[in-house]
Amino acid sequence: MTDQVRIALLNVSKRFGDDTAVDGLSLAIAPGELCVLVGTSGCGKSTTLRMINRLIEHSDGQIHIDGQPIREINEQALRRRIGYAIQSTGLFPHWTVARNIGLVPRLLKWPNERIQKRTRELMQLLGLKEAEFAGKYPHQLSGGQAQRVGVARALAADPDILLMDEPFGALDPITREALQNELIRLQARLKKTIVFVTHDMEEAMKLADRIVVMDGGKVVQQGSPQDLLMAPENAFVESLLGGRDRGLKQAGLIPVRDVMHPTGARRQTTAAAVSADDNLRGALSLMLLNRLSSLTVVDERDRTVGTLGVDDIMHRKNLLPAASAKPTNSSANQPASKPAPRSDDGDAPEAKAKVQGVSTDRAEKMSPHQGSEPHHEE
Ligand SMILES: Nc1ncnc2c1ncn2[C@@H]1O[C@H](COP(=O)(O)OP(=O)(O)OP(=O)(O)O)[C@@H](O)[C@H]1O
Ligand SMILES: [Mg+2]
Repeated sequence: MTDQVRIALLNVSKRFGDDTAVDGLSLAIAPGELCVLVGTSGCGKSTTLRMINRLIEHSDGQIHIDGQPIREINEQALRRRIGYAIQSTGLFPHWTVARNIGLVPRLLKWPNERIQKRTRELMQLLGLKEAEFAGKYPHQLSGGQAQRVGVARALAADPDILLMDEPFGALDPITREALQNELIRLQARLKKTIVFVTHDMEEAMKLADRIVVMDGGKVVQQGSPQDLLMAPENAFVESLLGGRDRGLKQAGLIPVRDVMHPTGARRQTTAAAVSADDNLRGALSLMLLNRLSSLTVVDERDRTVGTLGVDDIMHRKNLLPAASAKPTNSSANQPASKPAPRSDDGDAPEAKAKVQGVSTDRAEKMSPHQGSEPHHEE
């Protein structure tokens, strides 16, 4: 084991009676990595997480944290190292927000003052105003606020590992997106090692350094979102990734900035503008909505910084290889584009040639929620 592996699962299995929930799973997760487990219901994702923090014991194989078998790590040390956030939040209903957040530090017998300081810090970190929320009870919170408290609680003892089991699963798409962005921001700052379970492939692609696709308790394929989209191992992975929508999903991973022609290189202005920080999927959507084959690219201050044509997208090298024509079961897209078209500053807007032969169906759709059974833990 090298120090580059924070969590290692070596041929791990879990049996419940005669049923095998996890079947010879091997996985190595690097420090600071955000690894997302996806797969159909019952494929063993939650069981895998719960074996890592020893909520359940594995039947076979070995699980190591920083090279040490978890069975040799004492419970307190494991609790301190591993935060756990789940869909139903698992907040104690008769405890205030502040007390819920301080749960693990209290178990670790931190002095009260330190617990209070840490609770304040976390509430601030997660955008929960202390004066407003500290004394509230879970039933007085919205779903999104309760999830924030759940994540704050998971972070309380400053663990270097976070296990997150569909933490945003029960939320509406807008709140979910806000919390995903929050997690990306937190992760950039805190650099935890995160194992995250979701049913939502959009969420997986947005968050993951690596996606691990599971089926029947085994790993079917793992890789970066881009790797998986480029070369799904089989029809199961392909359908999970969105079937024929894979092209759009992949476009969603490529920033406009990487493909545009900086202004000056090719002078063009159009009636619609896309942000350089948006992605090619958002740009394609704007092209369709505005029946344009090229867009002006603007920076965060709405200054023209380049142009992007449909040909630039088509000729982008690492877009999908020839698409296979497998049936798709997904219509989930991510709300990626900057919707309001505007003329760029300075030059007169000029509409470009219309996109030929394409439907102008609304190209942005919210991902349908696919929830799962709530978990109950206290
Ligand atoms: N405590 C338990 N006792 C018996 N069987 C269990 C137990 N926990 C899980 N299982 C079984 O193990 C299998 C894997 O369950 P697990 O909860 O890991 O699935 P999952 O991938 O998280 O599914 P979902 O996406 O629906 O949450 C399922 O067949 C489930 O019925
Ligand atoms: Mg589960």
